[in-house]
Amino acid sequence: MYSHSHIRTLKAKHDKLLAEIAMHDRLYYRENNPKISDFEYDCLKAEAERLGETLASHSIPTEKTIIGDDRIAGFEAAAHLSPMMSLANTYSRDELFQFDMRIKSIFGGQKFSYVIEPKIDGIAINLIYKNGNFHRALTRGNGTIGDDVSSSVRTIRDLPLRIENLSESIEIRGEIYIDEQTFAAINKCREEQGLDVFSNPRNLAAGTVKTLDVSEVAERNLQLITYAIGHGASDSENLQSDTLEYLKRLGFRSQEKYWTATNISEAWKCVEELNAMRHSFPYWTDGAVIKINELQLHRELGATAKSPRWAIAYKFEPERAITKITNIILQVGRTGVITPVAELESVQLSGTNVSRATLHNADEIAKKDIRPGDYVTLEKAGEIIPAIISVDASKRAHDSKPFVFPDTCPSCGSKLVRLEGEAAWRCQNSYCLPQIQRRIEHFVSRVAMDIDGLGSSAIEKLIAGGKLSCICDIYRLKFYDLENLEKLGAKSALKILNNIDGSKSRPLWRLLHGLGIPGIGEQTAKMLAAEFLSVANLAAAKLEDLEKLNGIGEKLAAAVISFFGEPNNMKIIENLLTLGVVCEDGNSENIRTNSIFQGKIFVLTGTLSSMPRQKAIEAIETLGGQVANSVSAKTQILIAGENGGSKIAKAKSLGIAIWGENELLRNLSSQRSTPAGH
Ligand code: IVH
Repeated sequence: MYSHSHIRTLKAKHDKLLAEIAMHDRLYYRENNPKISDFEYDCLKAEAERLGETLASHSIPTEKTIIGDDRIAGFEAAAHLSPMMSLANTYSRDELFQFDMRIKSIFGGQKFSYVIEPKIDGIAINLIYKNGNFHRALTRGNGTIGDDVSSSVRTIRDLPLRIENLSESIEIRGEIYIDEQTFAAINKCREEQGLDVFSNPRNLAAGTVKTLDVSEVAERNLQLITYAIGHGASDSENLQSDTLEYLKRLGFRSQEKYWTATNISEAWKCVEELNAMRHSFPYWTDGAVIKINELQLHRELGATAKSPRWAIAYKFEPERAITKITNIILQVGRTGVITPVAELESVQLSGTNVSRATLHNADEIAKKDIRPGDYVTLEKAGEIIPAIISVDASKRAHDSKPFVFPDTCPSCGSKLVRLEGEAAWRCQNSYCLPQIQRRIEHFVSRVAMDIDGLGSSAIEKLIAGGKLSCICDIYRLKFYDLENLEKLGAKSALKILNNIDGSKSRPLWRLLHGLGIPGIGEQTAKMLAAEFLSVANLAAAKLEDLEKLNGIGEKLAAAVISFFGEPNNMKIIENLLTLGVVCEDGNSENIRTNSIFQGKIFVLTGTLSSMPRQKAIEAIETLGGQVANSVSAKTQILIAGENGGSKIAKAKSLGIAIWGENELLRNLSSQRSTPAGH
């Protein structure tokens, strides 16, 4: 037993912890801007719980920790049909085995098994279907009422809008996330524009789902994985593993990899296996969820106020590594933003070899006092981008000095400026060589004009040789400019020229994306192209024409107007037109409605011998079709390449049309022979 004064101290400590947790909850759930890692947060929670138990054993009443609430202004709230709970979690193997003991003590000798699933670190979503039709999507909110984020969720490519109608209303539960590539691309783009980067994909996914501008949401390519049924679960599914398969049959993406185990030791082996392979998943996995497989036992065990008793999350501690900064270099981006990068003694971290880490901006370096020669601790932000989380100042050399951020551009020497409200320093000389280089690299890249063969090193040499100083010059290149380049040769030079020529009639969105208008990504470029059909039309558009477009917010509209209002940019566009860069989509409305691809939902399986998968997807989309990831009742045509997988059997069972590669090529070419292709 503790003395009164000791208990008073414990109580004060407990109150302080609860206040701290409440603050972190607000930062995490409402502002998507956590200041501590999940691990640190979980440690605070565990400590509060321990103290709470001690106080309770001395009959001292304590406040309960409140479940986080993500609801914010601007969204309509609606009730879940059944509550959305959270999961008990642990970082300890022993506690996982204790969980098993508890279950066994309740059920005596009764046999049961486990399912082990990746714990996806996205944001929880509740999809409500009424009479088989998608009705609304709700965030967890406070567990009883959530925010209606249907318009964001509708941008998810393979969200089934109709499902088999088993009960009047059904809730499908899952997780929304942003995949690694999209996350990295978004951050790269933000860094180039001098905006703060997102610290991890979960925050980005959470912020995106709560974005009101739908075209911005569409750019972020949200993804969905489902793993449970809330209200309306059918009694015919006996096991959680059946539910996962059933969700796939309904047309949802569900856990691609999960394990079943007959006892806790086996389950632990699965957790270890999951840990070893989790870096290969497209989403960030911060742990394993261990669930009892028998659904009848879920009903018998029920839940506490916060979480079900039939499941527990085992979370992996974040991996960290210590290494030395050999140098701090400064990179000049496409829009002149200067990004400091730490070069490191290479080190293994979360499955990859790390030799560089972005330092984001001058403030970040000053705040952490990061210096060349420092020993630092690295952690992967979202296990994707390595970030320096702390510096070991005790290991510093005596003569170490703070890093001084320069006030002139490391490349061209012009004075750096900091625009109001921005963290980044910029070089405002648009003729600064690295800026020219990055603009040209972006223009020729696969996501823009797709000029194959013109790589970074060729571009660098052409700039140095005075042959390239803006994107227009690409179309002025002569055979001998390229042939003279080191290691290139006549054959490659001809190929590149041919590719440059071919790019003159690319679809309009590629040109719009390639121009690098701030904030205009691939999706928005596609939308603008479909609306305006030529650069000239877009350049002549008025602010109100743009603003009234579905999904283009004020910010993007203003960016477009300001881009075309700049005489230098108009000059570039005029030059491109004179040089034969047409990129007009013609009357795409007519073409699209005539296309047999128009409005149909395709799924691809296996490999195509005549073109990469991405090309096939683009071709289908250009002709008005949509491509989804998995076969569902909504799929209209399955394209089966060589070694197609289980999708073929599924398509057959659903009576879906199946095209072989030849049939696809035939249909593509018959559609292209209309003036559509351009
Ligand atoms: S089952 C009662 N399975 O983790 C909640 N949840 O920390 C049952 N999560 O709110 C959820 N992956 O958003 C379940 N495979 C998985 C999961 C998963 C991620 C999330 C979910 C939940 C949170 C709890």
